[in-house]
Amino acid sequence: MTLLPDFRLETHFSRWEFQARHHMTASDAETMTMAELLSLAGPEDREAWDRLALGYTQTWGAPSLRDIIADTYDGLSAADILTFAGAEEGLYCAMLALLGPGDHAVVTVPNYQSMETMPVAISGQVTGVALRPENRWQPDPDDLRAALRPETKVVAVNFPNNPTGVIADQAVFRQIVDLCAHRGIHLFSDEVYRGLERDAARRLPQAAELYERGVSLNVMSKAYGLPGLRIGWIASRDHALLARMEKMKHYLSICNAAPSEVLAGIALKGRETILDRNRALCAENLEKLGAFFAAYPDLYDWSAPDGGCVAFARYKGADGVEEHCRRLVEEKGVLLLPASLYLSDLLPVPMDRFRVGFGRRNIEPGLAAWRDYLDGR
Ligand SMILES: Cc1ncc(COP(=O)(O)O)c(C=O)c1O
Repeated sequence: MTLLPDFRLETHFSRWEFQARHHMTASDAETMTMAELLSLAGPEDREAWDRLALGYTQTWGAPSLRDIIADTYDGLSAADILTFAGAEEGLYCAMLALLGPGDHAVVTVPNYQSMETMPVAISGQVTGVALRPENRWQPDPDDLRAALRPETKVVAVNFPNNPTGVIADQAVFRQIVDLCAHRGIHLFSDEVYRGLERDAARRLPQAAELYERGVSLNVMSKAYGLPGLRIGWIASRDHALLARMEKMKHYLSICNAAPSEVLAGIALKGRETILDRNRALCAENLEKLGAFFAAYPDLYDWSAPDGGCVAFARYKGADGVEEHCRRLVEEKGVLLLPASLYLSDLLPVPMDRFRVGFGRRNIEPGLAAWRDYLDGR
């Protein structure tokens, strides 16, 4: 594999995430304190927490945690689950396990950069399928069909999507699964925002449930708001694939942090409480953002996304979105992500967009600083 390029978004976050006063583009829901999380624990988990020893843990993940994760899928068991240090490690290993030189991959664009960068670095044979605003950001199955080649080994999608917030229509998702199944292609499905749908009827089934070569990526970071745990996982019924990735993990994190395994188990058992809270927060914030953008119709095009906790809004000002975002963070401490951070090597990305987040508590001071900037121009 060639040396990986700069991860534009993460590099930008390294510079600004903990410097900017108002993080208005967070991709995770509001987090919890240890006390809040532990208050969800039953007596057995509370005791497990108090008696926890800090040795190494199993590379696959603690059996009890794999059981609880498997419970979040229809028809899967612990044998179908391999845990990772966050979603990023899972994505990295999955692409290395699924692709080699000469293989071809299909990836939706725009995307969370590593979903594109990894296949490009591994095989160099990657075709983008555009999510277009004029098509409600929906993927077009005809585009996907046209992108497939005899040597296509993986199709990679992400719904709810980062950055657009789109969820594929149920029928479209089924068509994607069928196209993959027809040719035995693995479907890599990044489902890290699942659970944060605005309308529960839009929640998609998980790829690993639908298809034996479905590879579902998930994590505690996003919908559950617990990125500090660094617990992610891949669910798949392709056990040979899981075994290949487990061997890679020996060169990476080796195993999870023991405290994180216990805490992730507690959170997943209490998942309905956590997801209800986070969905309510997103709904509240979307109302506030809707009212905010409605006050500046000459500057922004906005519509609430299908799900997740980020959206890709349009900026129409003459100065352009890059300059707009730069001045907002430098002058008012309001952090947004301009479209350039979502540039793709595969396809053009709309360059008048910026990512805004709505999963965190207390967005009013950020909106006030943003308004202050706009009104002071
Ligand atoms: C779509 C998507 N996948 C994967 C990741 C990586 O998640 P983690 O921080 O849990 O490794 C992110 C993080 O922003 C993401 O947005």
